Amino acid sequence: MVSVDINSQPGKDFSGDALIVPVFSGRERHRLPLAISKVARQVMDESDFKADYLELVPLHHPNGVKDTRWMVLVGLGEEEAVTPNKIRKAVGAAARSCLKKGWKKVGVISPSTSNMEHDEVQAAVLEGVLLANFDTAAFKGKPEPKAFEKVEVFTNGDDTRKARRRLPQIQAGVAACHRVRELTNTPPSNLSPEVFAELAKKLGKEHKVAVEVLDPEALAKGNFNGVLAVGQGSAKTPRVVTLEYKPKEKAKRHIVLVGKGVCFDSGGLSLKDAKGMETMKDDMTGAAIVLATVMACAELDASVQVTGILGLVENMPSGSAYKPGDVIRSRSGKTIEVLNTDAEGRLVLADLLDYAAEFQGDHVVDLATLTGACLVALGEGVSGIMGTDQKLVDRLMDAGAAVGEHLWQLPLVEEYRESIKSQIADLKNSAGSRWGGAITAGLFLKEFAKNDSWAHVDLSSCWASTEKDFRTQGGTGEGPRWLLEWILA
Ligand code: BES
Ligand code: ZN
Ligand code: ZN
Repeated sequence: MVSVDINSQPGKDFSGDALIVPVFSGRERHRLPLAISKVARQVMDESDFKADYLELVPLHHPNGVKDTRWMVLVGLGEEEAVTPNKIRKAVGAAARSCLKKGWKKVGVISPSTSNMEHDEVQAAVLEGVLLANFDTAAFKGKPEPKAFEKVEVFTNGDDTRKARRRLPQIQAGVAACHRVRELTNTPPSNLSPEVFAELAKKLGKEHKVAVEVLDPEALAKGNFNGVLAVGQGSAKTPRVVTLEYKPKEKAKRHIVLVGKGVCFDSGGLSLKDAKGMETMKDDMTGAAIVLATVMACAELDASVQVTGILGLVENMPSGSAYKPGDVIRSRSGKTIEVLNTDAEGRLVLADLLDYAAEFQGDHVVDLATLTGACLVALGEGVSGIMGTDQKLVDRLMDAGAAVGEHLWQLPLVEEYRESIKSQIADLKNSAGSRWGGAITAGLFLKEFAKNDSWAHVDLSSCWASTEKDFRTQGGTGEGPRWLLEWILA
């Protein structure tokens, strides 16, 4: 584990591999320690460094700052337009450039600005570095992941007490983010429903979280017919996992989190094309987020009861696979005509949402990589959110904004309900038209969400096709940090 320190030193005496110096554009504004400010000014005067947002300049053995091998100047853009997210991303981009070099000991100067609270700035700086401190090397021939050993944030006299109090949540949130990235990135043949469930058991033991695993027999007894139908084409049988975190004292409230855990989505008999399947190992990200978040709540001794439900299943075509035309009697008793075996997530979630209601929580939130349509609507950097409780939806969107992960609401308009009616069953699993696919999927789930306060998140931002700022290519690990922000509020 990386050691972390926030201190009120100016940072000019930092000794280590690299000192990251975030700089606002505009010359008179660097309230930096003198020796460092001299270097920054010189670089701005003599070179083309303008401190534009995300602009990076590495300097070897900078003059007057003698104990650091490197100094990395990174632009924050205009001070008037600064936000926590810009700080996170700029510092994170600089930190990734350091990580790639294999540097282990890094310092960061917390930028001084009157446009944000000190603790906001310091927390964003630290999050930027820690979120960048991730390297997938597990599947390289030589698995030697790069990692920082020591991170120091220098605040030049600014009060550090508030930011220090935020440290546990920052560290647990980043660890949970990294756990999700790792699970999302794991090759699908290494993470079957059974292996995923075993991991949940192991983590549950370590964190004193009660874990129950329903195997296919228990699923049949419990009428999880949607989960079973989706899984019946695969050699790997499905599991439903329940995680129970309870605080020692009386819980303030009880939250139920539900995660889609399709360990691989080939589309089933409604087979995806080769391109469409390339990233479908990420179809378990909802379940990974739920698992990581429940463990983080336990690590932080949260005063809220949190139940997590994971629907783990593989969607494959075979002689035993479920077929377009099949009718499934879901756990709730409502029947579903399957028109497209690739709309499998909603069949899994139909059972899980019905089951979730039995836990009688105050809120149910489901997380699922449910539709390509949501990705078309919002792009890779924003997840969709819908629900029956506007207050809950607003709180979750605010939590996302606070941690720099975007959620945007889509309307569950009644008019579209028509399109999921079936001629022969209560519902059909595909609306037939691609228009508004994220909404029609949301409306389908709504039929099974019995809790008055329910929200559904369509995880379009779970995967980054290219690396950017503090993110690597692949799983983004978004989710646990905004969930924690909401749960711990
Ligand atoms: N897991 C996919 C959704 C998905 C696709 C997420 C691409 C991210 C990228 C889901 O199971 C699916 O295939 N949904 C179908 C639904 C359709 C058949 C009604 C889709 O979005 O095409
Ligand atoms: Zn699918
Ligand atoms: Zn899917």
